Amino acid sequence: MKSPMQFPPYQPHGPEELQAVVEVMKTGQLSPFLGKHDPAFHGGPRVQELEDRWAEAHGVNHAVAFNSATSALIAGLAALRVSPGDEVLVVGYSMCISASAPLLFDAIPVFVDIEPDCFCMDPAKIEAAITPRTKAILPVDLFGQSADMPAIRAIAAKHGLRVLNDASHVPACRAFGGYAGTLGDIGVYSLNQHKIIHCGEGGLAVTNDEDLALRLKLLRNHAEAVVGEMGRTDLEGMVGGNYRLGELEAAIAIEQLKKLPGLLAARQELAGRLAERLNALGFLEAPRVRATCEHSYYLFPVLFDAAKARMDRQTFVSNLKHQGYELYRLAVGYVEPLHLLPLFQKPREFRAGYPWNLLAGEAKQSYAPGLLPVTERLHNTEMLVLSHIYPPLSLGDMDRIADAFAAAAEA
Ligand SMILES: Cc1ncc(COP(=O)(O)O)c(C=O)c1O
Repeated sequence: MKSPMQFPPYQPHGPEELQAVVEVMKTGQLSPFLGKHDPAFHGGPRVQELEDRWAEAHGVNHAVAFNSATSALIAGLAALRVSPGDEVLVVGYSMCISASAPLLFDAIPVFVDIEPDCFCMDPAKIEAAITPRTKAILPVDLFGQSADMPAIRAIAAKHGLRVLNDASHVPACRAFGGYAGTLGDIGVYSLNQHKIIHCGEGGLAVTNDEDLALRLKLLRNHAEAVVGEMGRTDLEGMVGGNYRLGELEAAIAIEQLKKLPGLLAARQELAGRLAERLNALGFLEAPRVRATCEHSYYLFPVLFDAAKARMDRQTFVSNLKHQGYELYRLAVGYVEPLHLLPLFQKPREFRAGYPWNLLAGEAKQSYAPGLLPVTERLHNTEMLVLSHIYPPLSLGDMDRIADAFAAAAEA
């Protein structure tokens, strides 16, 4: 057994972020949001600067900063007025909130399978999942490239549905002539510590719709406290929260956004080399990138062909470990397919059957194993996920990884 390969950790922060934090500390204003109808209802100067810069970098009219992508997704569903008994189309391969968020509104997650090559919601499978109760579609730009948003948007338009795009993995990535995350009604990005750029915890929502932007801002800061003062009667009935981003995090995020183009370019260069080397082995397929999209390579998913490798995936992964290389989170696949989580398998134990018991008999959702054949096949037999695809790793590091893969196939 070779000793584990060593890689430097990913650290996108430097003196610029440190200085930005010091400047905020000197002001003593760490989160000057106010709960009244006042310019400060929308947050401090760094929060508002981050929103302006984010909107500009993504070519979109409005960006609203949140303390996480999770908060932004919750506010997004609320802004789209998702209600009890509505159905929301989701995917089963993502971080769990991408599928569980509708349950916070007693809305019902309806799973749609993913594409076998790009791993995002498969537009060809959406229409079969639409019912008179469907309210919204929640596609995820998994691993680093946009879902097929033109196709998804066309289906949404045909059926009068809203689109909330979880673009957590794809900040400032080109897609279909625009930017990933900006092609639905609302798009959401994450700035948590594990993302390409981060401020510890944070998120943003973007939209071109002025009404949705206002709703998102209200929901971020306890909505109901100010709608009366605003004299608006069309915005009543919203249950907001404290989803506010602090000035320290916003100041860090501003510096991070300036570095983003360089960080993406570095990942793309490394990915080019790794893809070339792994594809050449003949039993692996590096991520396919849609012709009009850019990949952020937040993660690097690889498809493993057991027949061509003449061994099963588990054997290959343990050979790889013997070569000193460990995959993302030690696991094969990405995350447990979400429909198989206890939340969906045992709903009566956790939520007294809500919201599924709002539906009449034959409309009840099933989350049985086998529901998402592509997701389950990728997870159970084909997918390997690598995370060592960031600066300051070098092309030489990509070669070291590829050499370990080659040796694991021969072992
Ligand atoms: C696809 C996706 N959506 C949402 C989230 C939630 O992000 P946050 O931690 O900022 O709430 C994550 C976080 O890992 C994610 O990967």
